[in-house]
Amino acid sequence: MKVSPSIISAKLEYLGSEIAKCVEGGAASFHLDVMDGHFVPNLTMGPDLVKAVRRCTDLDLEAHLMLQNPERYYKDFIDAGADIPLIHVESPINTGSLVRRISHEGYRYGIVINPETPLEKALPFIEDASILLIMSVHPGFSGQKFIEDAVGKIREARMYIDDHKLQASIEVDGGVTLEKAQVCRDAGADIVVSASYIFSGNVTERVGLLSRL
Ligand code: DX5
Ligand code: ZN
Repeated sequence: MKVSPSIISAKLEYLGSEIAKCVEGGAASFHLDVMDGHFVPNLTMGPDLVKAVRRCTDLDLEAHLMLQNPERYYKDFIDAGADIPLIHVESPINTGSLVRRISHEGYRYGIVINPETPLEKALPFIEDASILLIMSVHPGFSGQKFIEDAVGKIREARMYIDDHKLQASIEVDGGVTLEKAQVCRDAGADIVVSASYIFSGNVTERVGLLSRL
């Protein structure tokens, strides 16, 4: 299982060493939760923090853009060092034209669906996507409980991606503990995001446990 720690729950005063612990545990990438206070009722980081993370690791950085207008800001995050913007189909923009533009500019992208959004909504944008991110909580806050309905969606996505021989990795985000990560793995997920599970314990050990699933 690939593990993408969300630094939202790291001790930000020790960000460099928190990141180093994740790398030591075998993290595959890092997940940056960008919230604008409109698309979700919470505010988190801007490009400057992404620049700081970039200076700490060479691993891929995913920018999970929980924004009303990802079109306006995605390039700022890429310029700050993010590798893969993750675009919500629920953002009130033209998702198709945005992901085509990102691809055309030579960048990878991921497509994200909220718990109440059916998989079908992601399918028009999945062919060139690197990641299909299935939310297993309502976005906005870390530390929420895993929504079990996500498991069926992971299975459905696994079948679709395999049947159509697509490249997209299936990633799951929200409420992922060791036990839930195993359930996601069994359903066909490739990557798990985790914030509170990883950073509320021994970081290296917990990333290691997840990545050995
Ligand atoms: C939710 C974010 C998640 C979340 C993960 O809005 O997208 O990445 O913070 O946190 P945990 O793992 O604590 O659910
Ligand atoms: Zn996220």
